[in-house]
Amino acid sequence: MKALVLAGGSGTRLRPFSYSMPKQLIPIANTPVLEYVLRNILDLGVSEVGVIVGDRAQEIQEALGDGSRFGARLTYLRQEAPLGLAHTVAVARDFLGDDDFVMYLGDNMLPEGIAAIAEEFATHRPAAHVVVYKVPDPRAFGVAELGPAGEVRRLVEKPQHPRSDLALMGVYFFTAAIHEAVRSIEPSARGELEITDAIQWLVSTGADVRAGRYEGYWKDTGNVEDVLECNRYVLDGLRPAVRGAVDDASVLVGPVVVEEGARVVRSRIEGPVIIGAGTVVEDSHIGPHTSIGRACAVTGSRLEYSIALDGASVTGVQGLRSSVIGRSASVGTSGQSADRYRLVVGDHTRVEVAA
Ligand code: DAU
Repeated sequence: MKALVLAGGSGTRLRPFSYSMPKQLIPIANTPVLEYVLRNILDLGVSEVGVIVGDRAQEIQEALGDGSRFGARLTYLRQEAPLGLAHTVAVARDFLGDDDFVMYLGDNMLPEGIAAIAEEFATHRPAAHVVVYKVPDPRAFGVAELGPAGEVRRLVEKPQHPRSDLALMGVYFFTAAIHEAVRSIEPSARGELEITDAIQWLVSTGADVRAGRYEGYWKDTGNVEDVLECNRYVLDGLRPAVRGAVDDASVLVGPVVVEEGARVVRSRIEGPVIIGAGTVVEDSHIGPHTSIGRACAVTGSRLEYSIALDGASVTGVQGLRSSVIGRSASVGTSGQSADRYRLVVGDHTRVEVAA
């Protein structure tokens, strides 16, 4: 068994962050989504991993290296343009050979792992095994219609009028039968070779295609709201650890991680909260459900249910909530009167101020 991890694509829904970083490296509880993906794959005992990369190849390679840090052997596979999920299978054809493989979308978070899915695939070893998850509005996903025994009757990518509420998750198990399917399909209306269409091709030719329901937590971290929600979920399982310095005038409540070289001074930290290495928090109130990256500075501020990426600074701002602050971005007060704001706002950025 091999694995194919998809870390290419464009990530328009995660703008402005995806302008400067691949969306698969967005941190959840200070760890990039791709690291969770790799760990889940390694937990299956699968160590041969192909990683599809696009124009952000360099950053992905810098983050994961050759994989030895995780006990994996990574092979980077360059996709010249984001031509679709099924296209990545064609790009990886030589790497995959005729082995069974798990295809894992690099922006999908499944904190409870994928061992149960792998077991279901191993039991029946169908041509394709997909995983479905009940969602209130499935229009943004591939949608599955199932028969009584869990067999897949029909799959449609992002239908306007979904015929079920079962979304396809971004974890698929395949035998080598998928390669003929990929060769047989045409690009969709949005110009992509859809993996949903390739699996539907297998269904139409009478191949055994099965679906399992996932009982754990799942999030496609495609937009900011989902990233914050997922961060909340993962932080809820945080184990406290103080490796940095917390002064006597500070209070830590609930699970709090203070990484090495971080300093907490005259502050209240209400867990679950993680504070990254080298970050300084002074005269502030942080949490719950907040991740502060490395080398950040939070001074005289109050923030909760938020994420600050590496190098961010927040100074003198009270009441930040549901906020994501990008790498080395700064949010602060200007010393002007309270009804004036000065904003330097990049493309596709969102700022909300009190009415
Ligand atoms: O998350 C589940 C959904 O993922 C499924 O329900 C859909 O059926 C499936 O098509 C997919 O939909 P998305 O619109 O969310 O896919 P997205 O374009 O975000 O791409 C998923 C991952 O694959 C992402 O990490 C980027 C990467 N990718 C994407 C394309 C189109 C590539 O590496 N190459 C590509 O050509």
